[in-house]
Amino acid sequence: MNTTEKSIVRDMSLAPSGHLKIDWVKEHMPVLNRIREQFEKEQPFKGLKVAISLHLEAKTAYLAKVVKAGGADVTITGSNPLSTQDDVAAALVEDGITVFAKYNPDPAEYKEHFIKTLETKPDLIIDDGGDLVTILHSERPDLLEQVRGGCEETTTGVIRNRALEKSGELKFPMIAVNDAYCKYLFDNRYGTGQSVWDGINRTTNLVVAGKTVVVIGYGWCGRGVALRAKGLGAKVIVTEIDGIKAIEAYMDGFEVMPMAEAAKHGDYFVTVTGNRDVIRGEHIEVMKDGAILSNAGHFDVEINKPELESLSTSKRVVRKDIEEYVMKDGRKIYLLAEGRLVNLAAGDGHPAEIMDMTFALQAVSLAYVNERYKEIGARVLNVPYELDEQVARLKLEALGLGIDTLTEEQKAYLESWKEE
Ligand SMILES: NC(=O)c1ccc[n+]([C@@H]2O[C@H](COP(=O)([O-])OP(=O)(O)OC[C@H]3O[C@@H](n4cnc5c(N)ncnc54)[C@H](O)[C@@H]3O)[C@@H](O)[C@H]2O)c1
Repeated sequence: MNTTEKSIVRDMSLAPSGHLKIDWVKEHMPVLNRIREQFEKEQPFKGLKVAISLHLEAKTAYLAKVVKAGGADVTITGSNPLSTQDDVAAALVEDGITVFAKYNPDPAEYKEHFIKTLETKPDLIIDDGGDLVTILHSERPDLLEQVRGGCEETTTGVIRNRALEKSGELKFPMIAVNDAYCKYLFDNRYGTGQSVWDGINRTTNLVVAGKTVVVIGYGWCGRGVALRAKGLGAKVIVTEIDGIKAIEAYMDGFEVMPMAEAAKHGDYFVTVTGNRDVIRGEHIEVMKDGAILSNAGHFDVEINKPELESLSTSKRVVRKDIEEYVMKDGRKIYLLAEGRLVNLAAGDGHPAEIMDMTFALQAVSLAYVNERYKEIGARVLNVPYELDEQVARLKLEALGLGIDTLTEEQKAYLESWKEE
């Protein structure tokens, strides 16, 4: 059976548009291009099957093609029901990759796509949010045996992988790609910072300047979202549960207050905690008429949608990716992209130049775990510093930026405890 027969996508006639999107990002991913050339020569995944679950858009598609160029037989599925782009999925099928993904499948179909991806019996896994790894361990342990190891893309997935490791049940090594410097410093901060506002702005077509933006969670993503909101001219309020991050937000020039208070002031709310119910009924009850709610965390649990629904008398779609909820007192509250991560569900995700570093890390980490899975054993491993540094050096080269090297005297000075 060829990949076209095996794959499940919305519409193969959309492929030409998908190819154009992939070609565009490829032009802006120089580090990944270098790694592709290396993989073509060295064939690190020759004869192996790789299963990928990522937000299926153009940058991810290019990563899948790079892994295939390294000799792998690649199968890919989405990692959120609203982030798959059907044209890109169709293009990948034409490129010889098996795809199980559609935009907005029903929940049973969405789950089925994960299962079908795992039933290809992968040797290696790239996961985003931890669903592939969780389903394997909890529902399909019969498919575990062949898996050598994998890589995890995001904060939420790393948290789930570590919980699995702590319970003693993790069966293969997982590399925490999210925790590499070249990932969270740029992807979580600058990628999320820019793409969240791109998603919100293209969806609402409303002004940000002069408005009040409440950013819930001042982690790596929250820092970026707050920074870019300020750049757009908003007044920014940060809410936190961590004292140190709250002081950091304050010193970065933002107002800090509990959510019960912030809820009264916000025009825009962006949740980015990786936690659940950070906006709930008690907050919605005191919000201003016209408040816009959005989420950038991995799962759609940060805004309590059942409570929003139960406080409202009616709900309708007023514009693509905007639901209007009318409250009992007549206020209107708007929810973007069903509370799913707004930058991917209502946008194209992070800029290509950012994902260049993230996906370069994914590619080299996958080769690393494949080479050393036996010695690493079943645990969650950070990306080795040399790989992080290698990606940074390639990025600097692509940017045409030089940096300095330590002199012998400086090296000796830094290594000595005696020298003056
Ligand atoms: N949208 C995207 O493209 C994208 C990109 C990267 C990561 N993510 C996801 O975004 C989420 C956050 O990632 P991160 O890297 O910023 O994580 P992080 O751990 O650096 O930050 C999360 C922050 O939320 C705070 N927090 C937790 N509960 C809170 C609450 N009830 N109220 C206020 N603050 C609270 C934590 O103290 C922490 O500072 C994760 O789910 C991650 O997977 C999304």
